[in-house]
Amino acid sequence: MLCLACPTNPEWIPVATANPDLILLDHAHCEKKAAFFALTMINRYPSRTRLVKDLIGLAAEEIEHFSLVITELEKRGLTLTRDPGCDYAKMLHEHVSGNEPKRMLDFLITGAFIEARSCERFSLLAKHALTEDMRALYRSLFESEAGHYRLYTDIAREYYPFDHVKERLQELSLIEAEIVKGLPNKPTMHG
Ligand SMILES: [Fe+2]
Ligand SMILES: [Fe+2]
Repeated sequence: MLCLACPTNPEWIPVATANPDLILLDHAHCEKKAAFFALTMINRYPSRTRLVKDLIGLAAEEIEHFSLVITELEKRGLTLTRDPGCDYAKMLHEHVSGNEPKRMLDFLITGAFIEARSCERFSLLAKHALTEDMRALYRSLFESEAGHYRLYTDIAREYYPFDHVKERLQELSLIEAEIVKGLPNKPTMHG
């Protein structure tokens, strides 16, 4: 599926579905950080017009998703708590090159992997969440996260040779798989 080199450990599914409130709280932060990451990329690479235009659209969608999840939290009588941070994203970003032009490519590909893993997790929750309203929520988000994965890889192909992008996608897919395998099965979107 997508560019992922390993599927999610099936043991994550019962942990996630048994804790829908914790999953939603973490999910809210994921949507907020996805928007923030897109805006940060625009801030870093303002003269890359294709990147800027595509990521304005992506940031707007992620803000919509953030708002949707906040509404879902409210319905459940929950309020957003402080973001404890995400080990998955931190570990993935440790592999981003410190030097351009590779740095921009690595940021785009790590963005693609975070979207791809979210998309895979949404597809699992769309099947296995314990209530129909939760399954419907994740079904509605699944497609757009797949689109976000494609958007990051398309931007990468706009600015870098096809083979170069393919090679780095393969390298980082193996790194991403090792990170995912090493994380405990917590009730978080990427845990
Ligand atoms: Fe999203
Ligand atoms: Fe997304």
